Amino acid sequence: MEKITIVGAGRVGESTAHNLAKAELCRRIALIDIKEGMPQGTALDIQESAPIFGFDTKLTGHNELDAMAGSDLIIITAGVPRKPGMSRSDVLDVNVPVVTEIVDEAVRSAPEAMILMVTNPVDVLTYVAWKRSGWKRNRVFGLSGVLDSTRMASFIAMETGFSIKDITAMVLGGHGDTMVPLPRYSCINGIPISCFLDAQTVARIAERTRQGGAEILALRKTSSAYDAPAAAVATMVDAIQHGRKRILPCVAILDGEYGQNGICMGVPVILGSGGMEQVVELELNEDESGEFVRSAEHVRADLARLRLG
Ligand code: 2OP
Repeated sequence: MEKITIVGAGRVGESTAHNLAKAELCRRIALIDIKEGMPQGTALDIQESAPIFGFDTKLTGHNELDAMAGSDLIIITAGVPRKPGMSRSDVLDVNVPVVTEIVDEAVRSAPEAMILMVTNPVDVLTYVAWKRSGWKRNRVFGLSGVLDSTRMASFIAMETGFSIKDITAMVLGGHGDTMVPLPRYSCINGIPISCFLDAQTVARIAERTRQGGAEILALRKTSSAYDAPAAAVATMVDAIQHGRKRILPCVAILDGEYGQNGICMGVPVILGSGGMEQVVELELNEDESGEFVRSAEHVRADLARLRLG
């Protein structure tokens, strides 16, 4: 990719821009935010770290949405974050018009781009972006599972004391309290975690994963998580940029997979140069399917509020 635009130069946007630049995942990064001087200052600050990290990526800051013109990928982090005690759905109404305006500009000035949604509630807003753009579903997808799975893997490492290098975790469903951590598909060097952890500990890890974002927000009070989310976005961009065909859990529009239609949720997908190239269907047992359906109902309730469900 030549140009990536990040809309929203808050902490997630800033940290994402720095990660993408350091890994040279594109030649140019445009950082857009409505706050005057803020994206310009952030872009310059990151640019000044280039000699230390040795990257040639060029960063620019802008206050107008049309700076996204010609982008290959648009990462949307703009919007109002939740405050302690709020759910991600509580910011839906205020974030829908923000996302709609950005998507309309993308259709106008970056018609070949892909959209990677980060703004919450990410499942619903990815659906809004897909509907509004009229683009194929491979080009519109969202962050969630890579972040939720990296949290779960971290908690497995904390509980077992084993190296994070050998741990993989899988989390499906909506990015909220009803997300579905899958211990059966979470392993330490291919060995199911149940071989090392008792059922009670596994259940505790799953619940901590569901509450992972809220835990950080409750500790920081004035800021949601941004380091792990930005690292997760960079992982997705790396998979696209290098056409890796990685199997990563992402928010995807479902077209019959997992028995769901007309909805967007976290599922494993093949992520490569074509974006969300294919949804990967895992075999779920009765309990896992039940949790997935409950999570889908939660996302559908938000879509129904917008008259999209
Ligand atoms: C999180 O889980 C912000 O939703 C994001 O931290």
